[in-house]
Amino acid sequence: MAPDMAEVDQVIHQRLSSKVALVNQISNYIVNAGGKRVRPMLLLLIARALGNNSSQRHELAAVVEFIHTATLLHDDVVDESNLRRGRQTANAMFGNAASVLVGDFLYSRAFQMMVTTNRLRVMEVLADATNVIAEGEVLQLMNMHDPDISVDDYLKVIEYKTAKLFEASARLGAVIVDATPEVEEVCASYGRTLGTAFQLIDDLLDYEGSTAELGKNIGDDLREGKPTLPLLVAMQRGTPEQRELIRNAIIHGEVERMAQIVDIVKTTGALQATREAAEEQARLAEGCLVALPGSVYRDALLQLSADSVHRSS
Ligand code: IPE
Ligand code: IPE
Ligand code: MG
Ligand code: MG
Repeated sequence: MAPDMAEVDQVIHQRLSSKVALVNQISNYIVNAGGKRVRPMLLLLIARALGNNSSQRHELAAVVEFIHTATLLHDDVVDESNLRRGRQTANAMFGNAASVLVGDFLYSRAFQMMVTTNRLRVMEVLADATNVIAEGEVLQLMNMHDPDISVDDYLKVIEYKTAKLFEASARLGAVIVDATPEVEEVCASYGRTLGTAFQLIDDLLDYEGSTAELGKNIGDDLREGKPTLPLLVAMQRGTPEQRELIRNAIIHGEVERMAQIVDIVKTTGALQATREAAEEQARLAEGCLVALPGSVYRDALLQLSADSVHRSS
């Protein structure tokens, strides 16, 4: 996929330009820091696996990366994070106001780009996904510091804030090659389950990952009092004392007891349970692929779902 991805990078850089210097500065700052580019890769692999190389694919791959980047700019403000892609976050470097506004620039630039495809279905998919992501982030905000949310509440947040954009990316790969509605749905399911696995692992890595490899500060979720699956499972399985400790950490957000809480999520098997939940989603994703014709691209999609649960960055 290297030539395809190089082309996407070229589109990304061309379309970033603005007449306003600070927009260029901040958008280049975050885009040049890299990132895995998983969502564009997903869109391109689906389009390729369906055997057609539509000329619109690079533009749309750049669109999903712009939407993703916009969510990161906003998310880091909301989460008060100060490290992303191995660098200071844009909010730490340029301030919250500038980050939010440049996030808006990237969203609206993505919408300018998608309109050029002249396909109503593309616009519908992206408008819906963007709207749902916003709902997901607000839903998560409402769950903050609440130790009583259910696993289903948690799963809904990750479906909205993360899986939806994976779903849209995969779906668009099918839409631009004029796939049948059935094939489009299978691809969408692949993206959704992959995205769910991806966020489950992100939440796991926040406890057992390495800041150097992730390029993000681990422990941010606990510091913020974010009730993710490792904590929810640990509360179900822990002793009354352990449960109380975690409840308090979620309610107040704390880092002082980080080591103790990491120990609890490990010994209660909560991290393992989170990993297994991700593996289950990856298996569901793999199951969707049987509907696609065999090819090196389908093999790569299989690899992508496996890598998403075995990643450390
Ligand atoms: C980070 O996404 C936000 C989540 C949905 C977990 P990525 O892990 O894809 O971030 P980059 O683009 O590689 O930095
Ligand atoms: C993913 O959630 C954020 C979005 C989908 C915008 P996180 O808050 O866990 O993502 P990171 O860990 O900051 O990348
Ligand atoms: Mg965050
Ligand atoms: Mg995270």
